[in-house]
Amino acid sequence: MPLILDCDPGHDDVFAIWLAAGNPALELRAITTVAGNGTLVHTTLNARIACTVAGISGVPIAAGADRPLVKPLATAEWIHGENGLGGPELPEPTVPLDPRGAVELMADTLLASAEPVAIVATGPLTNVATLIRDRPELLGRIREVVWMGGTTERGNVTPYAEFNAWVDPDAAAIVLASGIRFTMVGLTVTHQAMVTDAVRDAVAGIGNRTGAFGAELLDFFRSMNQEALGLPDGPLHDPVAVAVLADPEAVGSVLTRLDIELAGTETLGVTSVDLVGILEREPNAHVALELDAPRFWRLITDALATLA
Ligand code: BDR
Ligand code: CA
Repeated sequence: MPLILDCDPGHDDVFAIWLAAGNPALELRAITTVAGNGTLVHTTLNARIACTVAGISGVPIAAGADRPLVKPLATAEWIHGENGLGGPELPEPTVPLDPRGAVELMADTLLASAEPVAIVATGPLTNVATLIRDRPELLGRIREVVWMGGTTERGNVTPYAEFNAWVDPDAAAIVLASGIRFTMVGLTVTHQAMVTDAVRDAVAGIGNRTGAFGAELLDFFRSMNQEALGLPDGPLHDPVAVAVLADPEAVGSVLTRLDIELAGTETLGVTSVDLVGILEREPNAHVALELDAPRFWRLITDALATLA
């Protein structure tokens, strides 16, 4: 299945890139970057580093929005480090930056494809919302949007909001209102993708450069999640969104009603998921709730094993 990955690397975004590039069911056609975990300069550099380390060449990488649509940018150095990819020594990227902007690359990728293309977004939805707003004639070419963001429970940046939703809630609302098939892969399901010792060792044990670099990323990411959020291990959020397309059986979802809070004083960016239908509104989103974790980790290690 052809896909565009829109991301803000970020440790877990790197694993999303690697899963998208290394899974045989997926054909990664483009990578676009957005400000989120770090500034756009860092997230773009980090996407190129992720591809360089893994030997991914020939997938164009383009930089997108350097700030959310309305809110000022807030970044997550407290989880991902100053450069957005704390832990390993970072090599100079050899993979080039595409001269086009993210929205232009997305549009060209959609136009060049004989079949609709899925968009997986693992950061704030700024680029995807801009594409929808500026190029509405292309909506029919987008197969679906799968987004890591939101939560049906509590948040990780405010008591009830998840980071990607909170950074650019206005963009999330635009994508949701577009009518494109939408799957929310929120904390409820990504907290089932915990990087335990066994997971970390399995990644290191792959025995290639990608696995060694990945294990260093996981060490840093786990310790930051433990310190900053008091979690037992680090949840590897972003590749769960890629797994929805790579292996739909690995992720269980329900079709339900999702709304984004745009006006709350304490609840900005909250994803209101009406799991019991109390609002009697039309369902508008697939919301992932269950992860087959062993199956998910096999997808990850199998994909990394195909890389450099
Ligand atoms: C999301 O926020 C970022 O820190 C991660 O990369 C992930 O996309 C989790 O809330
Ligand atoms: Ca991310």
